[in-house]
Amino acid sequence: MDRLRIGIIGVGAIATDEVHGHIPNYKALDDVEVVAISDINGRRAQYVADRFDIPQVFTHFREMLSHADVDAVSIATPNFLHSPIAVGCLEQGVHVLVEKPMALTTSEARRMTAAAEASDKVLFVGMNNRFRDDTRALKMMVQQGTLGDVYYAKSGWLRPSSLGKSSSWFTSKAQAGEGPLWDIGLVMLDLSLWMLGFPTVVSVSGAIHVPQQTSKQATHLVNAFDESPYPVEDSATALIRFEGGRSLLLEVSTTSMLSDVDDIYLRLDGTCGAAELHNPEMRKSNEVLRVHGELFGTRMEFAPVLPTSGVPSHQRELRHFVDLCLGREQPVVTPEQGLQGVQVIEAIYRSAELGHAVSLPLDDATAGSEETMQSAEATA
Ligand SMILES: NC(=O)c1ccc[n+]([C@@H]2O[C@H](COP(=O)([O-])OP(=O)(O)OC[C@H]3O[C@@H](n4cnc5c(N)ncnc54)[C@H](O)[C@@H]3O)[C@@H](O)[C@H]2O)c1
Repeated sequence: MDRLRIGIIGVGAIATDEVHGHIPNYKALDDVEVVAISDINGRRAQYVADRFDIPQVFTHFREMLSHADVDAVSIATPNFLHSPIAVGCLEQGVHVLVEKPMALTTSEARRMTAAAEASDKVLFVGMNNRFRDDTRALKMMVQQGTLGDVYYAKSGWLRPSSLGKSSSWFTSKAQAGEGPLWDIGLVMLDLSLWMLGFPTVVSVSGAIHVPQQTSKQATHLVNAFDESPYPVEDSATALIRFEGGRSLLLEVSTTSMLSDVDDIYLRLDGTCGAAELHNPEMRKSNEVLRVHGELFGTRMEFAPVLPTSGVPSHQRELRHFVDLCLGREQPVVTPEQGLQGVQVIEAIYRSAELGHAVSLPLDDATAGSEETMQSAEATA
């Protein structure tokens, strides 16, 4: 096969965005045809089909699988539907790109991995940040040993004043999992684990903060309380310990008052050097990546000139997924890595709830209930 027929399930923001969206980026590839879309919101689906000239429109993914003859799908629905829809597609012999998070429980993620193995189809988790020019450059430095043995990482995403309305699915426990830890927290966790080479996690200690409606409240927070109490956390922090003594400190906030723009960072400390990666809004564009080390016995610090391909990370990610499905590449993101991310986020919430560190793997009793899976399946 040298061409791929693709269906998109869930055609909201990330499916349709002109720069980052799945549909525009697939349409830019000459060995791909977007043949069908499916969205529970029929009017939205028809609007998107007209806008992008997509011939077949459905309101249920199973109808799409029965009628549209797709080789692969992108799943870009609310989080709680990722697992049941992915399993449904894999069981029908269709390759799957599922947006992050892969799933909301370890059990769901395991089911997906098993379905991919049984069908021998691609299961790819959308981690577009691994496809950025700067993160790829840093990963290469780590792989080449520039920093020596990286024993510590610290990463975070601090977002100012963006507490979502509690009417959005992003702040619904049932649909999003919980709060921003599943969203921007997972992105930074995945990047950090990737840089560290996905070492085995031994324990996780987490804390979350759920905002309360009080008379003393910064004005930018007041508008978020269209319901009370606020349903999910606005910030979280975690210490993750790995086999062999390495560790990661992770923090996330959607109510940071430290800056007017998002502060997104990743720091790596190694036995031969250290590196810091920041978003361009927080540093001059030529200082996004800074490396500290030693040369000829002297301390030195430099800002590498990063490659500037101009290719957006999502476009590179989708190119990679298509090449995977066509058997041309090895996966940059494996299902097992997606599963590890899910396991750690689940453990952070569990630890926060219990008030002490938890060991991984979580036992089955804490790793997602059958009831939750069945309810998501029914909705999908
Ligand atoms: N990788 C990234 O950069 C990135 C960015 C944004 C969102 N995301 C992820 O993409 C997913 C979607 O986010 P979004 O911002 O596009 O959300 P959105 O709310 O804009 O879109 C979701 C769409 O799914 C549809 N939908 C709901 N239930 C459905 C069902 N049963 N079958 C088919 N369609 C259904 C909704 O009608 C809506 O059109 C989330 O999981 C999110 O975490 C990833």
